Amino acid sequence: MVKKISSPRGTADILPADVSVWQSIENQSRELFKCYNYKEIRTPYFEETGLFQRSLGQTSDVVNKQLLQLAGDKKEGYSLRPEGTASVVRSYIENGMDRKESLSKYFYLGAMFRGERPQKGRLRQFHQIGAEAIGLNAQSPFLDAEIIGLAVQLLNRFGLKDFKLKINTLGTLEDKEAFSRVLREKLDDKRVELCEECQNRFNRNIFRVLDCKNNICSQIVGQLDIGDEHLSEESRIYFEEVKGALNSASIEYFVEPKLVRGLDYYTHTVFEITGSSLGSQDALGAGGRYGGLVKQLGGPEADAIGFALGIERIILAKNQAQDKQNDPLLDAFIVTFDNCGQKMAFQIVSELRKNGLVADMSFKTASIKKQMSQANKLNARTVVIVGEDEIKNNCVVLKDMATAVQEKIDINNDNFDLLIQKFKERK
Ligand code: HAM
Repeated sequence: MVKKISSPRGTADILPADVSVWQSIENQSRELFKCYNYKEIRTPYFEETGLFQRSLGQTSDVVNKQLLQLAGDKKEGYSLRPEGTASVVRSYIENGMDRKESLSKYFYLGAMFRGERPQKGRLRQFHQIGAEAIGLNAQSPFLDAEIIGLAVQLLNRFGLKDFKLKINTLGTLEDKEAFSRVLREKLDDKRVELCEECQNRFNRNIFRVLDCKNNICSQIVGQLDIGDEHLSEESRIYFEEVKGALNSASIEYFVEPKLVRGLDYYTHTVFEITGSSLGSQDALGAGGRYGGLVKQLGGPEADAIGFALGIERIILAKNQAQDKQNDPLLDAFIVTFDNCGQKMAFQIVSELRKNGLVADMSFKTASIKKQMSQANKLNARTVVIVGEDEIKNNCVVLKDMATAVQEKIDINNDNFDLLIQKFKERK
């Protein structure tokens, strides 16, 4: 027996029946990004591994465990992109964007790759809708509110209601250092009770303990009282201003002092949007400010903020049935009974398509019943019947699938004008 080949673990085909949901999400995103004046950027699917190591952090799970490195290119060392921010920043620096504009506002839609253990809502190839605002003028609490508001408005547009926006501030790089010291002090007497991985993380990256999914770790973290003594006055004021800007735009949020995010580049504002129907992988999207990253990758002193939403999780959370009704209809499906009919049918579909109509035909001569049920499945609005009598009489019969009303249309000397006109009237 021939061995069948399956799709790689953690990847999924997006079949034609589901594509309309994807396209609607992509189109709505593009429309909204335009309103906010964000421009599309497309970066490579793979980059030098060092880019991700230097930006996401050597101790982050994404770099440590999930980078999918390309074999056969040992010298440079390339990896599939696990997210979009690092590539956008690399491109911003490489193209000298700071010399061209004071604020670059980008968006992207595309596949990302992480070697994770697959489960519902967690894939190895998944898709993100992301936005990044980078520039010398990028430190403004209103830009934080713009980016957060944009993420929320996208989810609203997709028809999602049941989600929660959580925000926090990590402060400056120095504040982050102070925060990790405070956390180590507060968790020190519980250290031996933490899971093995968190005990390892204790010195390397204590923040990871805060979002560990292990029951004991989350209980210990649940009892932690995190104040804001690690934050400088400047960071506190900035966070107050961000909250004020969110309030002025009527964006509902919850302050979550334990929200730290899994990637190293964040400073100041961080946020996450969770969907209540999603189970353990409940983050619909997340983002934050990454003040030091542009400089750290060899660029100018630019500030930046962005987010990414996961399309698969959005679709999981959405009521898909509602979207399926929007599947495009066929304007015409041509039914034939012999080779002669097929020749005429092919001429008709070609003419209809040339005139911008959505048309298809049966490529096999089957019974009328079978062909009608195929037309039904394809959601055809009208069936064009090309039978023996019709060919003899230089005509076709149009059957309206909703009303079952039939109409004869003349086709003299292969002149399809009348037919096209009829279809245009029906559209
Ligand atoms: P992230 O939190 O790693 O952030 O991913 C953002 C979103 O991508 C998640 O909330 C989730 O919806 C989706 N996602 C992540 N991993 C998977 C997966 N394995 N399977 C399915 N969906 C997934 C970032 O990627 C940052 N670059 C966001 C950002 C942009 N921060 C600033 N700018």
